[in-house]
Amino acid sequence: MGRVAELAGVTVRTLHHYDAIGLVRPSARTAKGYRAYSAEDVERLREVLAYRRLGLGLREIAELVGDASTDVVARLLQLRGLLLERRDRADAMVAALDRELEARGRGLTVTPEEQLEVLGGRLYDAIGGAYTATRRTEPRIATQILDALGDAQTVLNVGAGTGNYEPAGREVTAVEPSAVMRRQRPVGSAPCVAAVAESLPFEDDSFDAAMAVSTVHHWADPMAGLREMRRVARRVVVLTFDIDEPGWQDRFWLTRDYLPEFAGVLEGFPSLAGMADAIDARTESVPIPWDCADGLFEAYWRRPEAYLKEPVRRAMSVWTRVGPEAEQRAVRTLGEDLESGRWTERNGDLADLDAADLGLRLIVA
Ligand SMILES: C[S@@+](CC[C@H](N)C(=O)[O-])C[C@H]1O[C@@H](n2cnc3c(N)ncnc32)[C@H](O)[C@@H]1O
Repeated sequence: MGRVAELAGVTVRTLHHYDAIGLVRPSARTAKGYRAYSAEDVERLREVLAYRRLGLGLREIAELVGDASTDVVARLLQLRGLLLERRDRADAMVAALDRELEARGRGLTVTPEEQLEVLGGRLYDAIGGAYTATRRTEPRIATQILDALGDAQTVLNVGAGTGNYEPAGREVTAVEPSAVMRRQRPVGSAPCVAAVAESLPFEDDSFDAAMAVSTVHHWADPMAGLREMRRVARRVVVLTFDIDEPGWQDRFWLTRDYLPEFAGVLEGFPSLAGMADAIDARTESVPIPWDCADGLFEAYWRRPEAYLKEPVRRAMSVWTRVGPEAEQRAVRTLGEDLESGRWTERNGDLADLDAADLGLRLIVA
């Protein structure tokens, strides 16, 4: 018991208590006949302790781990979902605190109501709501995705978010780990499972096709996620971007001239060729129309003023990832260059283009 307590980082007293209330009972026996923890007991203890760390009460935990109707993988996925939700909430609080610090730094007053919002669900809603303000299906990109999906009738949408690009007239199942995003899915949209790409809770070949749009760069292990998509579906369609091209950081003026930190955000992100190879796929370029309806990072390449708007930036994860200092500097210098005419001097030729290739790619397997 002492060894298990040491490994698990709890006291022997805690283990005795769990034993006494029947939560985790050591069911094996040592050679000398003392009670000891079997592998299954340790598995159960690990689950109990993880739920404890999430702040759940012992009675609640007993119900969760005692539920014989769910197998261990299903329970681990549930636990994972809870942990991700916790992480999302912490991220949202950090972002809100950063904004409050910035406001205070500029000498602005922060109302008691705004301060309390940092802790509550309202703020969470506010931050999640930022996504739907500018992120919606761009019909021309959707057509390209639809073509790649072909005649697939059952479609899995991984990293589905609020449901953009989910094709109508097909049987869609969504996977989305963030509760903030799940909550914003419109009423009547496809059923959504709380899970991650890297461990899809479906049998092999469950779907005609699996799609993933603007999400792979958020995955902890993109290759594992792609292989999972391949496993559960006969066809795979992924919208992502290409960082194989030498000097890719310079193809978009925003990254080149104002936000070089963007390259750091993508450090470790696999190459397009590597991702395509992993699932035996081909790639095709996805031009971004000048009036792109989906407010993704590159969407406003011909509408630079948009990047000066806070709601536009809040719906792009890049800005949160580079941090407030880089964000403020980029916005300030872009604003100055727009005002002085320097931006137009450098990028005036873009006005003649209706669409631009800024590295967005479709991987189709
Ligand atoms: C930029 S949003 C894209 C949402 C939607 N596909 C769209 O095009 O509007 C990225 C989404 O990926 C989700 N995500 C992050 N990590 C993930 C993972 N490991 N597996 C699946 N989805 C993930 C995020 O929660 C978020 O909803």
